[in-house]
Amino acid sequence: MTSKSDIYPVPASYAAHSLLNEDGYIEMYNRSIQDPDAFWREQAQRIDWIEPFTQVKDVSFAKDDLHIRWFADGKLNVAANCLDRHLEKHADDTAILWVGDEPGTSREISYRELHRDVCRFANGLKSLGVNKGDVVTIYMPMVPEAAVAMLACARIGAVHSVVFAGFSPEALAGRMDDGQSRTLITANAGRRGGRSVMLKQNVDKAVALCRETTVENVVVFNYTDDTTDWNPAIDRDYAELVAAQSDDCPAEVMGAEDPLFILYTSGSTGKPKGVLHTSGGYITYASLTHEYVFDYRRGERYWCAADIGWITGHSYILYGPLANGATTVMYEGVPHYPDVTRVAQIIDDHQINILYIAPTAIRALMAEGDKPVAGASLESLRLLGTVGEPINPEAWKWYYRTFGRSQCPIVDTWWQTETGAAMLTPLPGATALKPGSATRPFFGVQPALVDNEGHILDGATEGNLVLLGSWPGQMRTVFGDHQRFAETYFSTFENMYFTGDGARRDEDGYYWITGRVDDVLNVSGHRMGTAELESALVAHEAVAEAAVVGYPHDIKGQGIYVYVTLNSGVEPSEDMRKALRDWLRAEIGPIATPDVIQWAPGLPKTRSGKIMRRILRKVAADECDQLGDTSTLADPGVVDHLVANRAAAT
Ligand code: WT7
Repeated sequence: MTSKSDIYPVPASYAAHSLLNEDGYIEMYNRSIQDPDAFWREQAQRIDWIEPFTQVKDVSFAKDDLHIRWFADGKLNVAANCLDRHLEKHADDTAILWVGDEPGTSREISYRELHRDVCRFANGLKSLGVNKGDVVTIYMPMVPEAAVAMLACARIGAVHSVVFAGFSPEALAGRMDDGQSRTLITANAGRRGGRSVMLKQNVDKAVALCRETTVENVVVFNYTDDTTDWNPAIDRDYAELVAAQSDDCPAEVMGAEDPLFILYTSGSTGKPKGVLHTSGGYITYASLTHEYVFDYRRGERYWCAADIGWITGHSYILYGPLANGATTVMYEGVPHYPDVTRVAQIIDDHQINILYIAPTAIRALMAEGDKPVAGASLESLRLLGTVGEPINPEAWKWYYRTFGRSQCPIVDTWWQTETGAAMLTPLPGATALKPGSATRPFFGVQPALVDNEGHILDGATEGNLVLLGSWPGQMRTVFGDHQRFAETYFSTFENMYFTGDGARRDEDGYYWITGRVDDVLNVSGHRMGTAELESALVAHEAVAEAAVVGYPHDIKGQGIYVYVTLNSGVEPSEDMRKALRDWLRAEIGPIATPDVIQWAPGLPKTRSGKIMRRILRKVAADECDQLGDTSTLADPGVVDHLVANRAAAT
């Protein structure tokens, strides 16, 4: 139950000056549900169509006839919507405000300049033989050239697949193989926290690891003075490539359902899935949500502190804001470099109006008391946002009081790689806030809570969060595996999209995400499948068996707790622990570094051999007094050993 004191009404200034107030939201939401075709036909007019669409949508969530199409016969180009159409009146507005890792370094790139850079690079890609429909992998640091690369792909109809630069060579190669990607765009190195991150070295290893694809071109942006190996057969210098190109590159005419990008994300089983997003629906939804959720007004400086390697970066650093002609801030570094005042410094230095950041960053700053905002004015800020994981009310209130000076609404936006853009979210002028709640659905979104049999639950209750109808930003398929798309999202509950999250709905109809109900971890806002971590672990020669669970972690939200059974003859040791940590970092990336490794001579299993994760989660969470029924275990003694040795592991 929320007490009255925990409700933050819409500030009067917002109700008067925002796009929508409470009544406006209700009216628009109702219309979006009652007559979705008319609603979306109207909203899609925010996009410049080369040829208009006739049919709004054609959707079936039936597992055997699964298809999702929006505006299907319309033609457009997403990059032209993000660039060309702003040139007539807003060419000199700043499109990207880039802030470097080192304090004092920044760059402003106007729409005119960005358009020119994108055209040149797009021509460069064409000169390398990249065609419409080809998958181009992008493994870049947070520099404007990363945005240029993405938009250049969109301009020529190539499908980008951005791989987060923190992923290992193994992970990069796996994604290149899956996408049959023959072109890779990277930098010699990136800068983060005062150090170089040697991306090209990782790329060289990845290229050698690819089995399903032959890499033909590696375009290298020589960004830092770090030297790298050079393979003249495939390596191409970015600067040389673009120097030879014309500024003129006609935007490819794309069908609304032509793929725009693939982005890999982890699920509860198997390898990461290539989430496929298409053109017309995605850009309509990214742009509409960006405008309403952030109540965006032209000229404002808007900072989404994500990485372009995640969906948040795709939709809310790049596509949504640029489609709206916004000034989007792109920050290269980390929130605590050179010290914890950096975020506040950037806000003051660049007079930023809107800040959108993950709860994990908020909690890490909060751990420093009020130091992160000491001496800062922060008066330019008008709105705050969070995304990626549930935010605990304490962190919400700290964020509100410090960065928000108790004046800025906080939009807690719930969504997923699969949903393309925000789904449950407050609208600043319309929604009274409750700390920790993502509040209510965006236009066109039909959330429901169901029990484990798929029965829809009414009123204030708790259950599995599903979505009952489609929305334009929805993913269309798993790249190369439509069957997996159907099985993952549409087979648990019939004719509904299953999010994998649990949620509670309160007496006011507000939603509170309680976290994943499947075997997916959310560590510092990064999503990881336990199955993926386990299969990496058992690939190590010393490991017989492994089980991975999440446990509550003050800053990361969830920590990674690993139980390992070593092969007979291998002795547990600190060296072995380090070896396994390094192994996971190398196989997946630093984000997969385990917090705890506990040696387990045996894992708790049912008589049919299924690992009882419920028990492992309880031990990891230090709730050994709540193990529940252990009578179905094949060997109950295993649990006693785990409980007795928990302390030694942590
Ligand atoms: C999962 C999706 C949304 C883009 C970044 C993450 C969790 C996301 C919230 C929120 C509570 C949240 C969910 C979701 N999540 N936003 N505001 N409150 N939980 O995208 O990597 O696809 O992860 O992140 O568990 O399913 P993602």
